[in-house]
Amino acid sequence: MKINVFNNENEVLNGLANYFVEIAAKSIANHGQFSVALSGGNSPKKLYELLSSPLYKDKVEWSKVHFFFGDERYVPLTDPQSNYLMAKKALLEPLGLSYKQVFPVDTSVSPEEAAKKYTVDINYYFAGVKVRFDLVLLGLGDNSHTASLFPHTPVLHDKTVSAKEVFLDNQQVYRITMTAPLINQAHHIAYLVYGEGKAIAVHHVIEDKKDIENYPAQLIKPADGDLQWFLDNSAASLLKK
Ligand code: 6PG
Repeated sequence: MKINVFNNENEVLNGLANYFVEIAAKSIANHGQFSVALSGGNSPKKLYELLSSPLYKDKVEWSKVHFFFGDERYVPLTDPQSNYLMAKKALLEPLGLSYKQVFPVDTSVSPEEAAKKYTVDINYYFAGVKVRFDLVLLGLGDNSHTASLFPHTPVLHDKTVSAKEVFLDNQQVYRITMTAPLINQAHHIAYLVYGEGKAIAVHHVIEDKKDIENYPAQLIKPADGDLQWFLDNSAASLLKK
């Protein structure tokens, strides 16, 4: 595991954008394409806008990139809460990508069916080879969740390489998430975490005792891939080392 700490939000975004470019080039050189699972929420929006900006848009062979989602809110894909819609506006549409390159979660069916269909889509994409994303981007909630692996939810104990539905009691909403075993098969996993509001969660996940019920992001340990954290000083401010 490598922890990259940057002076501020702008520098951490550029740091991860450069890493994205590097892994994309290596993946395409190695096997002709780059499969990436995007994270949702607020933090990555600026990363996606940076990647589709004149600063970075010509640094990636976008036609060879295939986009999945590490998790999705169980809302219509036109809903402001949708991770797909956020990525579409910030990255996919500005780059003029073909819909064939993007694999959204089908939230028009039941949560359980949406998860099953997404699992089929992922397995179909990797047909004949091991399900291994080239890169999984992750964020971190201030309660130490990542993707939609939330504290005290059954999915934390799911050993299958799949996508599963999760019901969040406190929000009374469903989400669809990749399981930890699926994420952990990735070649590369990168957390993007910035802002002082995340400092305690970063400390819990990286340095605190093992407690996956309360700090689910501790589940993320790539089997034989590379895990990197991209933090700004504020998010890293409670790290002792
Ligand atoms: C989501 C994300 C989720 C996110 C964290 C942090 O769908 O919300 O996938 O895991 O990364 O909740 O979100 P912020 O970046 O908005 O703080």
